[in-house]
Amino acid sequence: MSTNQSVKAAWDHLAGLPRPTLAELFAGDADRLSKLSTRFELGEGLGGIRFDWSKMHLDDAHIAGFEALAAAQDFDGRRAQLFGGEKINNTEGRAAEHTAQRGIGKDSSVEEAQALHQRTASLVAAIHEGALGEVKHLIHIGIGGSALGPALAIDALTRDGCVVEVHVVANIDGCALEAAFAKADPATTMIAVASKTFTTIETMTNAKSALNWLKENGVDDPYGRVVALTAAPEKAVEWGVDETRILPFPESVGGRYSLWSSIGFPVALALGFEEFAEFLSGAAVIDEHFANTSGADNLPLRAAFADQLYTHLRGCQTRACFAYDERLALLPDYLQQLEMESNGKSVTFDGAPLDGPSAPITWGGVGTDAQHAVFQLLHQGTITVPVDFIASIAPGDQLDPAHHRILLMNCFAQGAALMAGKDSADKSRSYPGNRPSATILVDDLSPASLGALIAFHEHRTFANAVLLGINPFDQFGVELGKQIANAIDQGEAVFDASTTALLAEAGLA
Ligand code: F6P
Repeated sequence: MSTNQSVKAAWDHLAGLPRPTLAELFAGDADRLSKLSTRFELGEGLGGIRFDWSKMHLDDAHIAGFEALAAAQDFDGRRAQLFGGEKINNTEGRAAEHTAQRGIGKDSSVEEAQALHQRTASLVAAIHEGALGEVKHLIHIGIGGSALGPALAIDALTRDGCVVEVHVVANIDGCALEAAFAKADPATTMIAVASKTFTTIETMTNAKSALNWLKENGVDDPYGRVVALTAAPEKAVEWGVDETRILPFPESVGGRYSLWSSIGFPVALALGFEEFAEFLSGAAVIDEHFANTSGADNLPLRAAFADQLYTHLRGCQTRACFAYDERLALLPDYLQQLEMESNGKSVTFDGAPLDGPSAPITWGGVGTDAQHAVFQLLHQGTITVPVDFIASIAPGDQLDPAHHRILLMNCFAQGAALMAGKDSADKSRSYPGNRPSATILVDDLSPASLGALIAFHEHRTFANAVLLGINPFDQFGVELGKQIANAIDQGEAVFDASTTALLAEAGLA
């Protein structure tokens, strides 16, 4: 059989499998919990993470079917290409070497990453020691992958205090930068310009305004306060940044996978480089697991089996992630870019049209807030939304333990309610149940466990791409809008009647 035939046969087999309810699955297999709920140890003194997929419709038959699909899509081969630094991003002719930043990958790439991390560590130490004067604030300017990761990690890990306060600014809307200015003192503020390409219009415009702000507020040498985080160091030099304050990262690290590179500088500056190194180590533990574990024992691959079950076999167009932890409030935003920019594609690796859906829409929020806002649809709406609940056993707060107890009770209650449902003679008070959820429970939120959580999702995204036969590492879908915005700026383009009228009304034409 050709690859295409074996892939089709695997999907056909999966589509034909029986569809027991969750209640039937639990009743029919006494070992269900131990098969589908797994504790993953992060290492000595680092605690662990429980991954529980038992409330999802995975069963032995589906797992075997998905393992056959993974084999047909040459999962082992693709994974070896990823870790071997091969040009797995075929449309851009590049490797995807984010794991090398965490110490796992091609030797030469790991060595290069370590040397670059050393550069970051030295600059962080110099700033902490006062070599650049007093630094209390960092305005980190970047967008997409150059902002979402730093924003998540800073928000998650600095609540107990930090060495330097970081304000992440992404939007070109000047209100975003003004909000950061309002919190910072120009005399003690540094600017990080984070851009893989060092050309992104939002970032470069914000960076220029931040320099003006420093100058207008008495800083004689504003460029002396700038750090550039980029894969295009020559552009940063051209723009005016001194080479000693340029922290490069390799082209082979994709934007939405770049938090582990020098794009993580604000995390290291806020917390100290040692904590940043722990964050990298936590991710590396998942890398080792993902690289060396076969079949459904491989946790990111098992998560992808569940994802494909709902997206491909059950037609679910969205998946939701609810963090029952205020510190992870930005995780759904981070996952949106990771999953939708990676796998929101319509063609396969070979450029053929994709037969079936690609990535679902990733959305979510924070619990318990979301329970009082959007959970109505999850429980009683007409569509099924597979949900991930993410929580920490140890609290992030110092208040009355009642807070954390109620938080976790609610988290677990939601998963139980979605699955069990409840019948009532009054149909508007009836809950259909049999609705899927997974629970990811960390012992404690720390740099290592956050690193592991993010790396788990990266590999889950990659595993989904392999099952679908698509390239998760390009993002051509974002280009057309950028080109048209540029054309408007240049006054070059001719538009449809609606756009022309809007431009005229806003005074842009
Ligand atoms: O427009 C999409 C994108 O290219 C993302 O993939 C990327 O993370 C973001 O823009 C920012 O790009 P850069 O880091 O080059 O400024």
